Amino acid sequence: MDVSGRRSEVGVALVTGANRGIGREVVRQLAERGYEVLLSARDGEKASAAASALVQSTGAAVRAMTIDVADPATIAAAAAQMREDPGKLDVLVNNAGIGSDFGVPGTAPDFDAIGRALETNFYGAYRLTIAVLGLLRASEHPRIVNVSSGMGGVAEMGGWSTGYRVSKAALNAMTRILATELKGEGFLVNSACPGFVNTDMGGPMGATKPVQEGAAGIVWLATLPDDGPTGGFFRDGRPVAF
Ligand SMILES: NC(=O)c1ccc[n+]([C@@H]2O[C@H](COP(=O)([O-])OP(=O)(O)OC[C@H]3O[C@@H](n4cnc5c(N)ncnc54)[C@H](OP(=O)(O)O)[C@@H]3O)[C@@H](O)[C@H]2O)c1
Repeated sequence: MDVSGRRSEVGVALVTGANRGIGREVVRQLAERGYEVLLSARDGEKASAAASALVQSTGAAVRAMTIDVADPATIAAAAAQMREDPGKLDVLVNNAGIGSDFGVPGTAPDFDAIGRALETNFYGAYRLTIAVLGLLRASEHPRIVNVSSGMGGVAEMGGWSTGYRVSKAALNAMTRILATELKGEGFLVNSACPGFVNTDMGGPMGATKPVQEGAAGIVWLATLPDDGPTGGFFRDGRPVAF
């Protein structure tokens, strides 16, 4: 992956679902690059514990926030808090995600589980993005990374897991819509597939890709130079089919 054009200037980043897994590692890597990172989780105590551990182990500028992306009230409260301090955002990583219907056949759908996937993976990311758009507009180099999945690629769509697949396909559509509308304002909005990563989500299904590698492609998109891509879908820095 070519990271040679990366900005050296630091900024403020918000990462959702960052108490464990890929999100926590994205926080660590952004902090390592000098970003002040708002580590958010739906459980405030878990956010605080993860942030404290990173501060203690790395000395990084990491702060805890409570955001349940499936709860619009916590999104509104967090956005109000961020308008007070730090007053702007340079990077938003919509990482929080659930797999509520992995392996469920499309011919025998679990509509409640499909709804839960959409509520977190699509509406959650979309609502939060709109809630913090003003804060991102205050940045000179706003970046949005939507953590998607190859399972949401329509071009190579397979069977099973309807809720997860459709929610990530919708997230990818949101990437294209916002990238188009915000292009004139200097935003770079992209989707990332981390690959099949050994986390609580991927591990039980046999994933072996280390979390550091899965996070690296997300961090690359979060720290793109101004002439970087927008409206794209990438895995490990390489384009993948929408
Ligand atoms: N692992 C893979 O192979 C893989 C492949 C493709 C894409 N992805 C995507 O990568 C992202 C991270 O996945 P992961 O592997 O790190 O999964 P993970 O280990 O299961 O972690 C998921 C994270 O999302 C959080 N979360 C779930 N619902 C939330 C909500 N309503 N509000 C806020 N946070 C919420 C979880 O918080 P709690 O601890 O509170 O549950 C947890 O921190 C997801 O979007 C996933 O779809 C993963």
